[in-house]
Amino acid sequence: MQTHEIRDRFTRHFVKSGHTAVPSASLILDDPTLLFVNAGMVPFKPYFLGQQNPPFENSTATSIQKCVRTLDIEEVGITTRHNTFFQMAGNFSFGQYFKEGAIRHAWSLLTSSVDEGGFGLDPELLWVTVFLDDDEAAEIWEKEIGVPKERIQRLGMEDNFWHMGVPGPCGPCSEIYYDRGPEYGIEGGPEADDNRYMEIWNLVFMESIRGESDANGNFEVVGELPKKNIDTGMGVERVACLLQNVENVYETDLLRPVIEAAEDLTGTKYDAGSQQNDVRFRVIADHSRTGMMIILDGVTPSNEGRGYILRRLLRRIVRSARLLGATGETLETFMNTIMDTMTPSFPEIADNRERIIRVAVNEERAFLKTLESGTQRFDVAATAAKEEGAQVLSGEQAFELHDTYGFPIDLTMEMAREAGLEVDMAAFDRAMSEQRNRAKADNRAKKHGAADESLYRDWVDNQPTEFVGYDNLVHDSRVIGLVRDGETVNEAKAGDEVEVILDVTPMYAESGGQTGDRGRIVMGDTVLSINDVQKIGKKLWVHKGVVEAGGLDLGSTVRTEVDEKWRHGARQAHTATHLVHAALREVLGPTAVQAGSLNKPGYLRFDFNYTEQLTDAQLEEITTIANQAVDADFAVNTLETSLEEAKAMGAMALFGENYGNEVRVVEIGGPFSIELCGGTHVAHSSQIGPIAVLGESSVGSGARRIEAYSGMDSFRYFSKEAALASALAQEFKTPSEKLPERIAELADKLKAAEKEIAQLHQQQLLSNTADLVNQAETIGEFAVVTVKLPNGVNAGDLRTIAQDLRGRMVEQAAVIVVASDNGGKVPVAVAVTPAGVDKGIKAGDMIKLIGGYIDGKGGGKPDLAQGSGSNVEGLDDAFRAVKDEIFTK
Ligand code: SER
Repeated sequence: MQTHEIRDRFTRHFVKSGHTAVPSASLILDDPTLLFVNAGMVPFKPYFLGQQNPPFENSTATSIQKCVRTLDIEEVGITTRHNTFFQMAGNFSFGQYFKEGAIRHAWSLLTSSVDEGGFGLDPELLWVTVFLDDDEAAEIWEKEIGVPKERIQRLGMEDNFWHMGVPGPCGPCSEIYYDRGPEYGIEGGPEADDNRYMEIWNLVFMESIRGESDANGNFEVVGELPKKNIDTGMGVERVACLLQNVENVYETDLLRPVIEAAEDLTGTKYDAGSQQNDVRFRVIADHSRTGMMIILDGVTPSNEGRGYILRRLLRRIVRSARLLGATGETLETFMNTIMDTMTPSFPEIADNRERIIRVAVNEERAFLKTLESGTQRFDVAATAAKEEGAQVLSGEQAFELHDTYGFPIDLTMEMAREAGLEVDMAAFDRAMSEQRNRAKADNRAKKHGAADESLYRDWVDNQPTEFVGYDNLVHDSRVIGLVRDGETVNEAKAGDEVEVILDVTPMYAESGGQTGDRGRIVMGDTVLSINDVQKIGKKLWVHKGVVEAGGLDLGSTVRTEVDEKWRHGARQAHTATHLVHAALREVLGPTAVQAGSLNKPGYLRFDFNYTEQLTDAQLEEITTIANQAVDADFAVNTLETSLEEAKAMGAMALFGENYGNEVRVVEIGGPFSIELCGGTHVAHSSQIGPIAVLGESSVGSGARRIEAYSGMDSFRYFSKEAALASALAQEFKTPSEKLPERIAELADKLKAAEKEIAQLHQQQLLSNTADLVNQAETIGEFAVVTVKLPNGVNAGDLRTIAQDLRGRMVEQAAVIVVASDNGGKVPVAVAVTPAGVDKGIKAGDMIKLIGGYIDGKGGGKPDLAQGSGSNVEGLDDAFRAVKDEIFTK
């Protein structure tokens, strides 16, 4: 049974019994505690906690959620059980059915026949576990379902109590396992062997709330949820293994084709006896899928957070492919293959293929370049090690390759092996662990920040801020919190830097790329100037500022005023960003997806996924379209609607939004621009004033940036440009529209003049060399020239002279040594004619000899060598030594 059919059957089973089918949320949800959605229940958290009413008929839902867990990337592929991406099929009850319902639903889907729409698993091969003291669940399994007592096992906190790893909903659980038979391990049920007995479904009886962890990671249950809920998670890929009768996930219809593609590309075979190679194949398959799915959800490679995870995944694929024998680019093939297998389950891939390939291939190219420079670095280090007679590449060098060139250690080891060297792993591990300790210290520092956030939790949960700033710039507020130096306080005095939490505020907090408002909080003689407003989570506004005069107590009623000018500028910039975005998509097509933005008064910056540099013509077209939209004086309309409705309107930027969310849509000029956006905007596009696009640039792999001014800043920019043009026009005595021509003409002339000077210089330099030939001494069978030329001749010119002389004396066995004093340095060039070389004199040897007298070194070939020293006094002795050496030949 194909994986997408397993998904369909799951959904149909639960929809038939009244569950609402909810599409998978994006892997990226707005939850600061999670890099990626890692369980099916994550998007439903507010309903479990009772913060929101579930918007589902019957208060039950079912979903197949995309999940990513990247804690142990290094472990992937070493066993066949863990994948960084997986699909969790779940059913959820918010206060409706509980243990018995969950157990019955799961059992009937697993064991009813394929003809009846089930998975047709043999009930005799299913085992279950329950939490230690959960007699109720054990009894349901035994009495209601008929699972024999000996196949019901009890496990502890570790296995059968589910929580998110952080404070939140939790509860005991019951897991269903499938016995894969004696070839997979020993008898005795899941408690004896969880490889033979494969976990396929986890039923969580979500009824409690857990608190913070202590230092050992232990926690206490701190409360009960308002209702008893059900959260279940069935591993789609694991069920696919069983139903496709294959040993592990890598053999299923989703991943096997990637392994086959890797075999074709690398010429190496999977499952041919090398565990090391098999791990590499599995890394390729696993990471290709995870990489593809997170690019699909809008992540691009970078050096932090999600982007860094993506970068690591893609680089590990490239590296593994290379170690298996691939020589060229590989990601396009892998991405195409995995997109083919995944599209039946995720049809949205079809519209994003080109973008996904582009992001992946760009990263691959960048990494291949890194590999190239790393390889050069490696070659130098390996040659040096061998020249010193060492058989070991030092741990420090291996670490440098890892740290600076992104060179994975197994690649270094592989290359070292090829070069007949070993890597000093003990020293490498030491360097790595030092680095890890540094990172840990950094993390501790960051955690401190997270601890700070917990300071605000009470307000976040119980007194979220009401934002009234779309319609008001001034509003009365009550001070419900004051924070100074990371601690809550009851009052603030003149001079204090404080954070103020208000019940209601008109001030916009930084989000969606728009900077926070500036403004004041006043009460009688008391004035606080507010210079930043930040949001904690989605709900709490923190106003940061200084008490300029007077004082403020907790509970005071104050007036909160937004700086109108600031807000006006921010609005202009933000609406301008939407226009530039729309213009960009008109010119470049829909694959130019937004990757980030910043709007502050007068300035905007817009990052988007696109790999090629924009041409001047494209930039000009974008500027024109955006300014035409300003000129058209479009009304800017905002409306609140459901995510589904917004999608139907064609709204862009849906990442991070969740099913059932109310979203805010900003529409400008009908279909011209429709975006999900919580920002503040001008009412009519003409209020933006001119938009001056400054240019575009690259911001790392696969992303580009457009920068622009808006409003008066555009005007100032234009007028400065005009002033510059007119100053240049005066300077070059030409009308400004002819400046480019005039400057190009001057540049050409300058180039021609420089060329002429260089030629003259060369002629002058060589005009005296004929004389030098006449100064040659005869030593034995050799003609020898040793001269110190006038001061200031550089190494390049010395070489030209030496070569010229060699040409003139080519009929003889001649040795030419020329040197100079060039500002403290003593460059030397030695040339030997072919007959000279035949008679046993090598330029490289001569340079080494000279180096000993002038405190220098150098090297080269038998016929030409160069060097440089620092002791000009030694030159005469050096010349003498050269002659002695020749004399003895
Ligand atoms: N939340 C549980 C899990 O992740 C069941 O969905 O296993």
